[in-house]
Amino acid sequence: MTETFYVTTAIAYPNGDPHIGHAYEMITTDAIARWARLEGKDTWFLTGTDEHGIKMQQTATALGITPQELADRNSARFRALAETLNLSNDDFIRTTEKRHHESSQEIWRQMAARNNGDIYQSVYKGWYSVRDEAYFDEAELTDGEGGKKLAPTGAEVKWVEEDSYFFRLSAYQDRLLKLYEDVPDFIAPEERRNEIISFVKAGLRDVSISRTTFDWGIPVPGADGHVMYVWVDALTNYITGVGYPDTGSEQFKKFWPANLHVIGKDIIRFHAVYWPAFLMSAGIPVQKRVFAHGFLTSEGKKMSKSLGNVVDPFGVVEEFGVDPVRYYCLREISFGQDGDWGRDKFINRNNADLANNFGNLAQRSLSMIQKNFGGVLPAAEPNDADKAIVQTVTDGIARITAAMQTQQVHEATGELVALLSAANLYFADQAPWGLKADLPRMGTILVTTADVVRRAAIVAQPFIPASAAKFLDALAVPADQRLLVDAQSAYTIPAGTALPPPEPVFKKFEHAKAG
Ligand code: MSP
Repeated sequence: MTETFYVTTAIAYPNGDPHIGHAYEMITTDAIARWARLEGKDTWFLTGTDEHGIKMQQTATALGITPQELADRNSARFRALAETLNLSNDDFIRTTEKRHHESSQEIWRQMAARNNGDIYQSVYKGWYSVRDEAYFDEAELTDGEGGKKLAPTGAEVKWVEEDSYFFRLSAYQDRLLKLYEDVPDFIAPEERRNEIISFVKAGLRDVSISRTTFDWGIPVPGADGHVMYVWVDALTNYITGVGYPDTGSEQFKKFWPANLHVIGKDIIRFHAVYWPAFLMSAGIPVQKRVFAHGFLTSEGKKMSKSLGNVVDPFGVVEEFGVDPVRYYCLREISFGQDGDWGRDKFINRNNADLANNFGNLAQRSLSMIQKNFGGVLPAAEPNDADKAIVQTVTDGIARITAAMQTQQVHEATGELVALLSAANLYFADQAPWGLKADLPRMGTILVTTADVVRRAAIVAQPFIPASAAKFLDALAVPADQRLLVDAQSAYTIPAGTALPPPEPVFKKFEHAKAG
């Protein structure tokens, strides 16, 4: 049976335009999804928008529109971003959809009904941050200007007192700790895992999971005036996306539990504590893994509207093209660590790795095949030097594959560059341009190099899909020979294959002049 793979991004609040941090999460998750497909897995990739909550309601009020209008307007921007970034998502979920209301109400009923009821009614008295859509303990707060109380995220908190339903999270401490122990790779990276284990060990309080002071949310079944706390419905998107509440459906049986939730480090508690507890409570298997990536700054500074340094992902794709932007996100930033969007660093990466390294290797070998062999692939008779580079590529692909098993996308792209560098050295050492008197040898070097380009382009597809496809087209590689297994063997393009004249795939960009 074909192995399956279900991967998700967080669903963003569409209370404003998407920024480069959202793009970063989409791109890295897309690379992971595309890698799974490259391995031949039956893959489902879900992204979408998280449209309820006070933040949405307040933003809409400030703009003089309804929350639904705000959600419609900005959700469309996130959907457009997914297209602009060439995402391969199979679905785009909006939490205002009917399917999602049904799903959220059903998980609520299950949590209320099972285990003698994990949901009970009481009064919530405590601090709430609208920006984070999160509750905080007094002990976590600091004093801000003008007597304001601040959450650890820097957002202002307000005191709330209201009738509310609670989820008995306190009852899940042991089960959660056992989960982290039994499934050591449940939370990545390691520092996040440690953070969560100490958080849970310190003791868990029950969480308030409904609100009565506003109505922009999913109604709690059988409880007039209560809407669900936005995180209850937000997390539930991951099961709605594969057909919940129809747990007997093909889609649900095939893809749940999800293999991986990719999220930012700021929302790890929701995904590694609340979500598995909700699922256990509702009698649904828990997801297999959560990977928390870091935060992106812009030219070394935290992005903020007031600083005017928020990077617009549509703008950078418009200026540089999608694949260089994807590549930068995957290669420059260690996945799991914080990173930075920097224009000069971006240009350096593009010029060095894509234009000079990958682009030149392809362009030089393919144009020599055109010039010296009329565009018809010659036969190869590999000697030891040729066999050595073939082996280097085989080893490199194995390392890329290993890195992708744990989502080390920066390592994987680093290994790709390393094998291309080795191939450029090989090409320079063999100097095929000086072999006009020995065409069989020249042909062997060119075919060997072109085949490195083929194998590298196959494994590059998850990272830079459109560019990789151009290389594969230039090498006349049939559509059904572009999987990881096809990259694992060498010299698969038959001698005599006619190749189209090569076109440059990457551009070089210039740094802005000083002053
Ligand atoms: N709606 C919630 C997520 C619900 S998931 C069931 C939310 N939305 S968000 O719009 O604030 O953030 C969406 C994702 O973008 C989160 O994973 C968040 O960590 C990520 N990022 C937000 N700003 C970011 C950066 N500056 N850099 C990288 N990722 C960032 O949280």
